[in-house]
Amino acid sequence: MRIPKQNYDDIERIIELDFVRATEAAALNSLPWLGRGEKEKADAAACDAIRGMFDLMNICGEVVIGEGIKDEAPGIFKGEQLGMWLPGAPQFDIALDPIDGTTNISKGMPNSITCIAAASPEPGVKVALRDIPSFYMMKLAYGPEVIRSMKRSGIETLKLESPIEETLITVAKALNKRVQDVVVMMLDRPRHKEIVAEIRRVGASLRMIGDGDIAAAMAPSYPESGIDLYVGIGGAPEAVLAAAGIKCLGGDLQCMMWPRDEKERQKLVAEGHGNDLGRVFFADDLANGRNIIFAATGISDSALLRGVKAQGPNAITHSVLMRAKSKTVRFIRAWHDLQNKTIRLRSDNREHRI
Ligand code: FBP
Repeated sequence: MRIPKQNYDDIERIIELDFVRATEAAALNSLPWLGRGEKEKADAAACDAIRGMFDLMNICGEVVIGEGIKDEAPGIFKGEQLGMWLPGAPQFDIALDPIDGTTNISKGMPNSITCIAAASPEPGVKVALRDIPSFYMMKLAYGPEVIRSMKRSGIETLKLESPIEETLITVAKALNKRVQDVVVMMLDRPRHKEIVAEIRRVGASLRMIGDGDIAAAMAPSYPESGIDLYVGIGGAPEAVLAAAGIKCLGGDLQCMMWPRDEKERQKLVAEGHGNDLGRVFFADDLANGRNIIFAATGISDSALLRGVKAQGPNAITHSVLMRAKSKTVRFIRAWHDLQNKTIRLRSDNREHRI
């Protein structure tokens, strides 16, 4: 059906639930792989369910940011078309991570989610979801309360490049806490050795995670997470997805490209990204404009969302669905009746019981 042009502005409201159906389907379809040591199979199951759900959606979706290429995993990559692509269907740029935390899934560990950000065309917005050319970015994420409080006290903003001690003291003041009560989340990686030592010296409280820094970077923007700050170096595509979510939650994220070595630095320069190497990108630079939808479903428990729970004949999923325009944040707890529930998979274009 052709959607009349005058209703175009409202299209996100109509279509947004289908994005969360896609993340729910990805979570449900990858769940059998929890703890089975097969991260590629879990990823393939999530991708199959996402593609299957998009096959039912009357949109013209183009993937502008797909999975990180780090594992050569079976992923959904940049350039892929999702949706039915019928004439006149609304357009969306799509950034997605079918599973953020594939290693966590394979080990049965917490902190894996599936998520999608989508942006429809908007006057004045050239690139809504920015594809960052580096593999990693240095990230600093904080919530709306920090921003509000800093504005009230006339402090400009936190600075990604400030010494972490300064940042921790500013965040403590903003949240009216002692520094030792400021909770910082970070990926547990050898490259963070120095910053970890510094955080411990200053006395703030650390929460290290194995993998999955989209939920982790969004956590400070979500008051019930108990996380005040996210810092550290993680994937660049994950930064863009986190930026989309953080924007909807009213927080902010600052990031800078972090080349892994001199070879990557030179490659970035040769490709014309030299000027952006020292640039600090804010959430609005990575996820630009107001026409942004963010949907995520927990696979295993994270600071943002509980994972899928099997309960008798039902599976319960926990998702978040939000829009940058309205800043409405919907937490959706869905009961799926496993006697009746089916998921459409792209691999054979059929509905499947889970
Ligand atoms: P995958 O699920 O694709 O494995 O990514 C997990 C993740 O932890 C991301 O959340 C994070 O941004 C990135 O990997 C960090 O990369 P690395 O594991 O190389 O430090």
